[in-house]
Amino acid sequence: MKQYDKVQEAVGFLKPYNAASATTGVVLGSGLGNFVQEIKVDQEVRYEDIPHFPVSTVEGHSGKLIFGSIAGKPIIAMSGRFHYYEGYTPEEVVFPIRVLKFLGVQTLFISNAAGGVGENFQVGDLMIITDHISFAAPNPLLGKNDERFGPRFADMSEPYKKSLITRAKFIAAEQGITLREGVYFGVTGPTFETRAEYKLIQLVGAHAVGMSTVQEVIAASHMSMDVFAMSVITDIGVREEENTITHEEVLQAAKEAEPKFTTIFRELIRTL
Ligand code: HPA
Repeated sequence: MKQYDKVQEAVGFLKPYNAASATTGVVLGSGLGNFVQEIKVDQEVRYEDIPHFPVSTVEGHSGKLIFGSIAGKPIIAMSGRFHYYEGYTPEEVVFPIRVLKFLGVQTLFISNAAGGVGENFQVGDLMIITDHISFAAPNPLLGKNDERFGPRFADMSEPYKKSLITRAKFIAAEQGITLREGVYFGVTGPTFETRAEYKLIQLVGAHAVGMSTVQEVIAASHMSMDVFAMSVITDIGVREEENTITHEEVLQAAKEAEPKFTTIFRELIRTL
């Protein structure tokens, strides 16, 4: 069965849940699951109940699609996402994004936890992703192109919608929240980077590094969706001390940054 047909079956199953005709989607990253508490939930659907949906496994991800509203605007939120490092194919990683598109989502909000390599970056900082460098994860559009998703050679000149970035910066200034902005360097993981790798990532002009987002954004771009993405900096890659990084620290840092992150997403969604 073609992925397009699987997407249509999942969409057929989910359509009745999207009674509010949401045009905004939200993908929640590691440690950012509490954002869900901001959502006025109408309905929840577990991933395992949706035809053809992958099922998430990683700690910190619960795995359900939430239909509800935030700031009075209908949204569909993915609580739990699929990472290439978990063993999913790139096509599986982007499957939910394609489902969101055919459910009517036009604007996609993506969050993630990332390592900071930008100058003066600190744990707990928020970084608007202005662009990305796709490093080692295979492009999800490899293989025969299905024009029903988008063109063979997709333009990637503005994968992160400039007008949304401008608005986010305005909101941050109004709310007294400091936002960084920069380039996200996408890796496969699951290892954190070596010191030499963090250094390389900094040298090529990136500001943060993480194991998600890039494949999803490529698929979203292919389908002409508008994307706004933000990283929570959960650890510092280029550093003096001999410290190590653990998944627990990443989750803890993300949790602490969550209120700021929530404010930006909520107020941005309010303006849509
Ligand atoms: N590297 C890659 N992915 C990550 C990191 C990191 O330092 N922190 C959180 N996700």
